[in-house]
Amino acid sequence: MINIGIIGFGTVGTGTAKILLKNRSLLKDRTGIDINLRRIADIDIKRGRGIKLPKGILTTDAEEIINDPDIHIIVELIGGTTIAREFILKAIKNGKHIVTANKALLATYGNEIFGNAQKANVEIGFEASVAGGIPIIKVIREGLVANRIKAVYGIINGTTNYILTKMTEEKVEFAEVLKEAQRLGYAEADPTYDIEGIDSAHKLAILASLSYGSRFSIKDVYREGISWISPMDIEFARELGYKLKLLAIAKETDNKVELRVHPTMIPEEYLISKVDGVYNAIYVEGDAVGSTLYYGRGAGDMPTGSAVVSDIVDIARNIVNKSIGRIPGMSKSAKMKNLMKMDDVLSMYYFRFSALDKPGVLSKISGILGKYNISIASVIQKGRHERRAVPLVVLTHKAREKDVVRAVREINRLPIVAGKTVFIRVEGKE
Ligand code: HSE
Repeated sequence: MINIGIIGFGTVGTGTAKILLKNRSLLKDRTGIDINLRRIADIDIKRGRGIKLPKGILTTDAEEIINDPDIHIIVELIGGTTIAREFILKAIKNGKHIVTANKALLATYGNEIFGNAQKANVEIGFEASVAGGIPIIKVIREGLVANRIKAVYGIINGTTNYILTKMTEEKVEFAEVLKEAQRLGYAEADPTYDIEGIDSAHKLAILASLSYGSRFSIKDVYREGISWISPMDIEFARELGYKLKLLAIAKETDNKVELRVHPTMIPEEYLISKVDGVYNAIYVEGDAVGSTLYYGRGAGDMPTGSAVVSDIVDIARNIVNKSIGRIPGMSKSAKMKNLMKMDDVLSMYYFRFSALDKPGVLSKISGILGKYNISIASVIQKGRHERRAVPLVVLTHKAREKDVVRAVREINRLPIVAGKTVFIRVEGKE
């Protein structure tokens, strides 16, 4: 029998406990191993979670689990980078295997945690840390191990995808949709993590570390959130044949890895554009396999619980078969790849200028774009007001970020431009 202790009885903890209890005999039939949920710790053990637990399983003291000699695997589901880190390091010291959904912790202290685990010969399972129920960690680490990974693109935050989908389909205000996402249990405890792209950046750092055999952290990821996105830009994107998504992008070009999270316009015919609501999707391109796409629920109790339990089963199998460390958490010999500076990133761009509708305005703006080597692909002007500014939308061919930033700064200073220029990166073929 393999004994499990869960620390953190929130949304994912409850989903995990439900699966372990409901599918215990199924898991035993499949694996030949009896996986026993022995203890659950949480500061609040009074609140009902809609689950019937065996007597005496709950405790408010996590140490009881960390120090229980009969527990083999500790599941950390409290989140955050402070107490969770202390608990995990202590549990590793006590020889426990760890399963965690804590992307923030791994994207910040991954080196320390994987390093300590390797020394103590214990496993760290983290399937649930990226894209909830989609087994993307297993895909990259095992299924695609033969490939040099060229690119990983993903919609890896359910909350922002839910918000952008609702804003697109129902023209609902940002704040209203956010409240709904929180009520449904998708959002982080602090929803800033979702809407400012921090959660996606944590997950991207983990995916990139696996894909490029390197140890990237949250600090390596360029990041923009969605709180500044206006329904007007979503509508222009639609008219131009694009969907607006918060995309996390990792790409290797000329031996440099670019890591970025930002609102992105994606051609609407791309499969990933059709990923709506709380669903996540990750596109992985390998040199042997070509293009692949993975789709599923990226948040919520049961989908994330499904990933947690898959890690528990993997570790239980390794314990029983005496093959701990068979598949290392991170690459055995991590080499630091060069990071591409955001300034050097090449992309197509969407600009929305607020310009006066007067003769010569377009030529002034296009003159500045030309000066910075930014080539225009198409232009649309909306509305007609002699005295008020109107939106002037420009799509560009590939340009360098550094040039775009400089051009926008200069354009914003023109007297014929009222208000800050909006610019959004565009993916797809030129
Ligand atoms: N807040 C996260 C999301 C939860 O919305 O995707 C899953 O990591």
